[in-house]
Parts: sequence; structure tokens; C-alpha cells
Amino acid sequence: MTITKKYTLFQEQILEGIPHKLPAKKAFPKNANRAPIRKDILSIDDKKLAIRNALRYFPEEWHEELAKEFSEELRDYGRIYMYRFKPDYELYARSIDTYPAKIKSAAAIMLMIQNNLDPAVAQHPEELITYGGNGSVFQNWGQYLLTMQFLAVMSDEQTLHMYSGHPMGLFPSSKDAPRVIITNGMMVPNYSRPDDLERFNALGVTQYGQMTAGSYMYIGPQGIVHGTTITLMNAFRKILKENENSRGKIFLTSGLGGMSGAQPKAGNIAGCLTVCAEVNPKAAIKRHEQGWADILIDNMGVLVDRVNVSKENNEVLSIAFIGNIVDVWERFYDENIFVHIGSDQTSLHNPWSGGYYPVDLSFDQSNELLKDDPELFKKKVQESLRRQTSAINKHASRGTYFFDYGNAFLLEASRAGADIMADNEIDFKYPSYVQDILGPMCFDYGFGPFRWVCTSGRSEDLDKTDEIALNILREIKATAPKEIELQMNDNIIWIQDAKKNKLVVGSQARILYADAEGRIKIATAFNNAFRSGKISAPIVLGRDHHDVSGTDSPYRETSNIYDGSQFTADMAIHNVIGDSFRGATWVSIHNGGGVGWGEVTNGGFGMLLDGTKESEIKLKNMLFYDVNNGIARRSWARNKEALYAVKREMERTPGLKVTLPNIVEDDLLDALYE
Ligand SMILES: NC(=O)c1ccc[n+]([C@@H]2O[C@H](COP(=O)([O-])OP(=O)(O)OC[C@H]3O[C@@H](n4cnc5c(N)ncnc54)[C@H](O)[C@@H]3O)[C@@H](O)[C@H]2O)c1
Repeated sequence: MTITKKYTLFQEQILEGIPHKLPAKKAFPKNANRAPIRKDILSIDDKKLAIRNALRYFPEEWHEELAKEFSEELRDYGRIYMYRFKPDYELYARSIDTYPAKIKSAAAIMLMIQNNLDPAVAQHPEELITYGGNGSVFQNWGQYLLTMQFLAVMSDEQTLHMYSGHPMGLFPSSKDAPRVIITNGMMVPNYSRPDDLERFNALGVTQYGQMTAGSYMYIGPQGIVHGTTITLMNAFRKILKENENSRGKIFLTSGLGGMSGAQPKAGNIAGCLTVCAEVNPKAAIKRHEQGWADILIDNMGVLVDRVNVSKENNEVLSIAFIGNIVDVWERFYDENIFVHIGSDQTSLHNPWSGGYYPVDLSFDQSNELLKDDPELFKKKVQESLRRQTSAINKHASRGTYFFDYGNAFLLEASRAGADIMADNEIDFKYPSYVQDILGPMCFDYGFGPFRWVCTSGRSEDLDKTDEIALNILREIKATAPKEIELQMNDNIIWIQDAKKNKLVVGSQARILYADAEGRIKIATAFNNAFRSGKISAPIVLGRDHHDVSGTDSPYRETSNIYDGSQFTADMAIHNVIGDSFRGATWVSIHNGGGVGWGEVTNGGFGMLLDGTKESEIKLKNMLFYDVNNGIARRSWARNKEALYAVKREMERTPGLKVTLPNIVEDDLLDALYE
């Protein structure tokens, strides 16, 4: 690898790992968006244990000084982040050749880690949190430094094992093995209550990796824009009459954070009038400045006037509103503003630690209360959820189509005692977007959020990959059955307009929903394109964990499974093991992510396409399993779209033979219990 002079210091620092000399304490960067202060949950003995755990990363002669500092971090922030060890160099996805690694796959992983910590991408970069309020890449800067050092020195016959951000170390393996195995938050099942996370995370022995944060596969809000666009377009298809379009029709929602920040942009692409409330002014301003929302309003009266004018003019517009979503739902009802589609993307997977801010308190007041009186804060959150639900119910009685967008809104509202249950007292009043839209229309056919990153960092490479993907989708569409025509069309439009929609934040990355056939053909073409010099550097392939096979989550990804198995996690576990020996460059499996700790098991992979024949064999093997595992499980659960898809796949892939369900008539069962 050529080492350019410009980056020598950066490379040296990576190779050094934990610095030989104790670095000086640092000030926080101006305007840093800091993580909320976590609950003070540890006993005195636990606090000593947390500090003892943190000090094991450092030589004894530093212990006295660091012990005091870490105890202060624990007191002031509820966690030990080891701020002093944050490196001086900038964190962002550099071009792959810049990393001081012995092997390209390790350099690619370093690039992806740095992308996840880039302040333009990450929500709370000082605390190593990428998105979702607590989606961590590492628990502390010591782990970051050691991991980068391990990656720099590893060979292609070693595997790095990551325990919730902690690099356990390099172990001998083989060329065909994954280079990194990641687990995040995996607990003995009885220890997955929300307070267990707080305690064990504060002790420094586990972390919440969310989905793509802890697996280094987050690519900024673009990753979610596509899914949100598909969801919104299909939601409008459900409610609009044939001669109507979505212009000037209101989509009301909340959250302008890591993923929720994608909503206004998706609203623009879907062609509606989006109102997105956000309590944290910094988050709202950041998204507006990045061009993800058209206008910023911080006054309710101004908002009401603007929405009325925009409705009147059938505008396609996205409004970032600085304020609490509960106020907007209530005020819009009082003002007779009809909301066509409603949803919510506050971080309710993390309700008691700053994921949801209660109404009637300012953002700063909420943060104070969270620190000083967590019990009262919890009460306020629950009160607020009851109020929000009651306002949504009133809108729904006027005809609003409300759906849960996978943030555990329905679940937490029900736990707060809100009027959210259906008459049968088992189901919720409102569907999740997977039950109504993504499950039957995408996942059951194998369509999911495939993504790639151009490791050169050059936008020209991204343009070429977009063009390759577009041509392949067009080819597939020419002979595709009518069952998947809609998906093919939506995805072709998406990739055609992707550049125009300016979706890139951080690395040169692209997201595209595709099925197994599409993913394999596109990946093969990328591999060939690098081999032939059409693109200038290898491609990293991956996906969101929120996909066909990677995630078991009864209130989200698997909420449209109705055979009782939605509470099992066999699919996600099979997936990570299956992907790992079929060629993934790295694999990950997490507890939590999306809907919350203990509520979901989710996994993902990363794969480097380096232009070789081996890469081609691996991608075909692994991507096929990575999609069809989930289709098989969904078809066994009797989902008719998945049954169709798996039968079609078995016809064209002789090696695939899955167990198919026999369908029982309702009458036969009803007669048994008459
Ligand atoms: N199903 C999916 O594909 C999907 C996609 C995106 C996000 N999600 C879920 O949505 C949630 C949000 O994700 P994120 O990455 O954007 O999290 P985030 O924490 O970065 O953003 C949430 C934002 O909501 C704001 N907020 C909290 N309470 C509010 C209130 N009462 N009124 C207005 N704003 C409020 C917060 O200030 C924060 O900026 C998570 O639970 C995530 O898992 C699901």
C-alpha cells in the first residue's frame, strides 16, 4: 500500500492504537450535538466496577488521573466515554487506499467505521452514537482506538471478534471466514429489560448497537429515505381516489434525527405536503441546512398559516417545525386541518432516556428533568403519549390514515395506558407499516434495502454504479411477472432520480430496494466493473437490518407473520450464521434496534467486492441465502406472497428445496370449537 505523506500522521495514530503518551484533556467541539445524560443507575460498588472496567484499557501509571476523570464522566453523563482519547484527526470516510491496513477488506471496514462516526453523519459523534439516540458504534474511545489498530494489522487469515464495541481480539481463521464478527447487546434472555441495558451499558460491558450503527453499515438518512418513500407512496395509493394525487395532501409526523430526518425528503419525492415536528432545535436546523427539509418554522401560528396556504395551492413542500408533535396534532385538530397521513418517528424504542420528549416542557427542561428526576420524566412521557394518542384518535375519526413507522409508538402508547387498542383488545387500533405495506408488498417477495458504498469516495464512481443498477433493473423488469411490477417500477424511478435528489451524506453510498435476483445481478456487475476498470475502487455491499431475513421483530419487520412465530428469533440467528460461512466480509447480530432493547433480534452483513472470481462466488452464494432464508420462513408462516416467491425461486434454482405449508380451511377448525 502506498503511504502518502499527507496522511502519515493519521496513519501513524491508527497504528499506535492507545497512544503511548497520555493525551491532554479536550474541550468539546462548538455546537456539538451531545447525547442525553443517562440515568444514574449504578450503586457505589457498581460505579467502582465501571471505573475498574474502563481502566483495564490503560497502563497503571495513568490510573490515578483517569480514575478521577472517569468517575466525573459517570457522574455528569451516566457513562464513561473516555472523551480524552478521541483522536485529533477528522473522522469521515476517506478513500480506501488511505487506511494503513494490510488487507483491503480491513481497510474497507475502517472506512465504514469512520463514516459511522463522521459528525456530518452521526447524531452524537462525541459519544460514538450514530443514530436513534443510543445507536452506538463503540461504547468508548478506547475501544475505537484498539479496533482500528487491530484492523490495521490483521491478515486475511485472522478474524476480529467484537463484543458490543469491545475488540476481544484477533483469532486465527481462514481466507474464507468473515474478517469481523460483531455482536451487540446479546444478553442471556432474562436480562433484557430496559434497566438492564442502562446498568450493563453503564458498567461498560454491553451496548445498544441499533441496527446499522453497531455493524458499521449506516449510510446517513439516505438509507431510510428510500424505505420511507416507498411506504409513503403506497400509503397514498391506499387512501387516494383514482383521479387524485398527493400534491397538497398532508403527511404529519415527528422527528428530524438520524433516520427520522429522512421523512421530509421522502415526502417531497412522494409529492405531498410534509409537516415534521422536532423538539431539538439543533437537529431541526441541521436537517434544514443539509437541504433535507425545505423550510424551517418555529412558531405555531406561522405553521398553521403556511400549511393552509400550501394546501390551497396544492404545493409539494416539506416543513421542519421546531416544537412538540403533540402540540401540532392538537392544534391542527382545533384548526380543522385535515391530515391525510399521520405517523411518528420519535425514538420510542428508548422512551425513558431521551428518545421521546414530553409535551409542555421545553427541550432543555426535559433534559434537566431526565437527569434530576427520571421517575417524574417517565410519568410525563406517558401522559404525553396519552395526549398524543387522543389527538390522533380524533383525527382518525375524521379519516386520517395513521400507521406506526416502527418506532414502537403503538407499543409504548399502549403501555402508557393510551386509548390505542382495537375492540378485540389484542390488536392495536392502527397498523404497523409492515403489516399494511412493506410486509406484503416488499419483504414477502424478497425486496429489501440493499445498499453499496464506493470506497474510492468519488462521486463519478457512484454515478457509474447508479447507471449499472438502472440498466439491470430495466432488464429484469422486461420479463418480470406482474406480481412484482409495482416494486420494479418504483425502484427504477428511485435509482433514475437518485442523483437529482442529492441523497449523499458522508460516504458515496446508494440504497436501492431489490430482490435476490436484482441484488445478485447488480453486485456481479459491480464486481466486473471494478475488475475491468470501469469503476476506480472496490465496492462495499451491505443492507439495512430492516429487511426480509435479517430481523425478527414482532412489532415491526415480522409483524405480518401470523403463525405465532413472530416472537421467535430463529430466522435472524440462522441468517447471521448462514451469511458468515457463505462469504460475508463481516457479520453482525444485535439485541435491540428500531423498536428497543429486548424487543428485536437483528443482523446484517458487509461484503467487499474486490473484482475477484472469489468475490463473485461469495456474493452469489451469500446474497441468495440472505434473501431466500426470510422468504422461506415467511412462506412457512402461510404468507401468500412469500409462497408465490419461494415456489418461483425453487423452479429456477434446483438446489433450493424448502418445506411448504399445507393450508387448512377455517370451517374445519371452527367446527371443532362450535
Ligand atoms: N421502520 C423503520 O424503517 C424506521 C426507520 C426510521 C426510524 N425508525 C425508528 O424511528 C425512531 C427514530 O429514529 P431516529 O434515528 O430518527 O432517532 P433520533 O433519536 O435520531 O430522532 C428522533 C427525534 O425525535 C425527536 N423527538 C423526540 N420526542 C419528540 C416530540 N415529542 N416531538 C417532536 N420531536 C421529538 C428527538 O429530538 C429526535 O431528534 C427510532 O425508534 C427508530 O428505530 C424506524
